[in-house]
Amino acid sequence: MSYQVIARKYRPQTFDDVVGQHLVTDTLKNAIQTDRVAHGYIFSGARGVGKTTTARILAKALNCSAGPTVTPDGICPSCVEIAAGNSVDVQEIDAASNRGIDEIRELRESVRYLPARDRYKIFIIDEAHMLTTEAFNALLKTLEEPPPRSLFILATTEGHKLPPTIQSRCQHFAFRLLDYTEIYDRLRCVAEEEKIAAEEGALSALAQAAEGSLRDALSLLDQVIAACGERLDEKRVRQVLGAAPTELLAGIVRAIDAADARGVLERVGQLATEGYELAHFCGELTRFGRDLMIARSCGAESPLLQVPDDQRRQLGELAGLFSEEDLSRFFNILLRTESEMRYSLVPRFHLELALMKLVHARRLSSIESLLGGLSGSGLPEKSSNSPRVAAATPARSAPAPKLRTGSFDRAPADASVQAPPPGAETTAAPAETSPALPAPPASEDGRLAAIKTSVYSQSNFLGSCLEHLSGFRIEDGQVDFIFAQKDSFFADLLKSREQQETLRTVCTQVLGQPVRICVRLNEQAGVARTERPNARARAERDPGVDAFRKKFDGTVVDVKDLKRE
Ligand SMILES: Nc1ncnc2c1ncn2[C@@H]1O[C@H](COP(=O)(O)OP(=O)(O)OP(=O)(O)O)[C@@H](O)[C@H]1O
Ligand SMILES: [Mg+2]
Ligand SMILES: [Zn+2]
Repeated sequence: MSYQVIARKYRPQTFDDVVGQHLVTDTLKNAIQTDRVAHGYIFSGARGVGKTTTARILAKALNCSAGPTVTPDGICPSCVEIAAGNSVDVQEIDAASNRGIDEIRELRESVRYLPARDRYKIFIIDEAHMLTTEAFNALLKTLEEPPPRSLFILATTEGHKLPPTIQSRCQHFAFRLLDYTEIYDRLRCVAEEEKIAAEEGALSALAQAAEGSLRDALSLLDQVIAACGERLDEKRVRQVLGAAPTELLAGIVRAIDAADARGVLERVGQLATEGYELAHFCGELTRFGRDLMIARSCGAESPLLQVPDDQRRQLGELAGLFSEEDLSRFFNILLRTESEMRYSLVPRFHLELALMKLVHARRLSSIESLLGGLSGSGLPEKSSNSPRVAAATPARSAPAPKLRTGSFDRAPADASVQAPPPGAETTAAPAETSPALPAPPASEDGRLAAIKTSVYSQSNFLGSCLEHLSGFRIEDGQVDFIFAQKDSFFADLLKSREQQETLRTVCTQVLGQPVRICVRLNEQAGVARTERPNARARAERDPGVDAFRKKFDGTVVDVKDLKRE
């Protein structure tokens, strides 16, 4: 007799056998009892959590010769054939390999005929998200007006990939991942049935490795039985699964706590010698790190932890060694390392480096404590009228923090101000101190005239653009060139980096002080005039902002008014 794999052998045959999907099975039972079964269902959820199983049970429930019933007898020809997957009236279509329009046309053809023997003609479309767009379109019509006594069940691991048009014509059931305990209990039952003597730790290792998928758990059980025979002890099972002993994970965490770099690295060496796959190990360590974080933040009893009770205690104890922040930092570092290792030729180095980071991570000061230090020095309070420093980028290499003289702020309606070129800092600086500059004209008109003349001397084109100005203003080190809406064309011409730089140089010379240039349209004048320069000036005077700049070696790039956001 041919061997049947455990996962198939123990496929539930009734709704009540299905583990952990009560929301779905209860609703379906209710629909059958009240004769309100829909014509289209979507069963979505992770792999191996009971979608196909439930679809077949629903088919049996409807087509059982004793039915429709919520407890199909399992012995009538319909039930037997459905369980075996060869019923004429219940067709299973694998959309992964039959993706196209032709298959769906065939299906549409077949759906037009009445069931051969049973009550319903049922189509179970597995991996339904793999259908092509044309195939979905072909299916739409049938789902919209399904022939009487027909039923479609679309099973998929990626429900969100089904077109909304399909989704809206079906009832959607989301199958959940199974809990550690649900999987563990099922494994124990199956092991008993199979007369396998399994240590608790062995089944526990299997249940954890399955990560919520019962099929995975049962397949792994098959695999370890093949490797170990009818007695399963934890150590051997973990070896077969490539799962590191929890003691080793805990050992590494303790070594991190003790800042024992050597202990950590030696453990990695030991794993490598024993032939563990290090990328897989990093995945386990990441999961362990995540569990520690949860144990610290939500308590060791949290249902978010999918582990046996003794491990809960251990997690609780280890998590207590670290702060919440340490643990989230650990988790972050490990998570990144896990993905780096996947693509690396030297995964071991990545792991070692990450562990070194973990050993030293606790010595780094946190951003919060840095910020905490700042709050004493006049950090802007959270009041709504404080200007907010939106971004502080590290200054390139200047040893002392320095505000970029050419940096600018942006009016809320986007006044289209251009960033200064990278050289702005240095080109503007001499102007600040140069004693040789002529005194600037006193009136605003006089200044504009002087600027125009100077601009013309550099570029006729630029000068002629300025002839279309509708307004001009100098305030707080900023020169506004304002154009009417109808002249936005000229404003746009002035917005190139090159033109802005020329304008800035000319204005700096004529006005005898370093300035920012702002080219904008008329309608924004009101807003910009009253608030923008003040906000920047206030931000720059603010001791909190100053402290930020010093601490992070930063530059004020933008000032935003929170009230306007
Ligand atoms: N909720 C469950 N209760 C009991 N057994 C289950 C459950 N989910 C899965 N199984 C076991 O796993 C096997 C596969 O389940 P099933 O075919 O229903 O998974 P699926 O959700 O359709 O997965 P896939 O997306 O990979 O097709 C079943 O034969 C059964 O042994
Ligand atoms: Mg399936
Ligand atoms: Zn039956």
